[in-house]
Amino acid sequence: NEIKVFCPATIANISCGFDVLGLALDAVGDEMVVRKTAQKGIRIVQLTGQDLPMETHQNVAGVAGLALLAESDYDGGFDIEIYKKIKAGSGIGSSAASSTGAVWAMNQLLNKPFSNLELVKFAMEGERLASGVAHADNVAPALFGGFTLVRSYEPLDIVKIPNPEELYATVIHPQIEVKTSDSRRILKTTISLEDGIKQWGNVGGLIAGLFTNDYELIGRSLVDHIVEPIRSILIPGFDKVKEEAINAGALGCGISGSGPSIFALSKGAQTAQEVADAMRKVYQKIGIEYDIHVSKIN
Ligand code: HSE
Repeated sequence: NEIKVFCPATIANISCGFDVLGLALDAVGDEMVVRKTAQKGIRIVQLTGQDLPMETHQNVAGVAGLALLAESDYDGGFDIEIYKKIKAGSGIGSSAASSTGAVWAMNQLLNKPFSNLELVKFAMEGERLASGVAHADNVAPALFGGFTLVRSYEPLDIVKIPNPEELYATVIHPQIEVKTSDSRRILKTTISLEDGIKQWGNVGGLIAGLFTNDYELIGRSLVDHIVEPIRSILIPGFDKVKEEAINAGALGCGISGSGPSIFALSKGAQTAQEVADAMRKVYQKIGIEYDIHVSKIN
């Protein structure tokens, strides 16, 4: 009647795939305990690590859980304990981890009446609360693991993408907060055909590189002509961090989700560590506090 879950952090967009590509970071995530109760509804009974609302309708896990309950014939409820390790507003899918963890755990406790695709839909309601838009590029990899592509939102179609064995992500989080809702508001809502052509060329290239273990192709495709030029203005030192990461051997580097975290993908653990050192030095020089970690992508 009780389950403990690990809820992974995720990198959304992965440069060229705004709102459609994402990957799960197995080394970083929250913990949650979810318990069946006779009392109807969802209650957040414990929340540590971050200052976030515990009222069910104001909490992403609460809202995602209510979306599941609305589709379920279960007439009891759930108590949720959330132990946050992922910082809210850091750009590595904090809200997605909580939303996804809640619905995944509830589904287990109900003997899995829902598919992963249905769970993504419920978790997206948490994202709607967090950012105003029910994007799925963090919740999909949090649920499926590894890389995922949101091939379509209507109808929802998620494709799991394999990745080469030796692929590592380095993520640095400068200690400034960027709200997803703010960093979405500054984006333009139209793009030129010219930019579209570049962008979908890179999305196709990235997917092809992941399928064929072609690290060079992955690197050439980690380019974003549309969102990064606008959002990077909100992240002090972004251009320098990117330059240094590439010089240290990263395949590519970009904004993680809506920022301010910056990610780099590398071939091999050693390169990923060297990239971490190079990125770290930039923020040490500027004098901005940071967290940094390296994860293997499974
Ligand atoms: N795709 C979303 C965005 C991810 O970039 O706004 C937010 O984590």
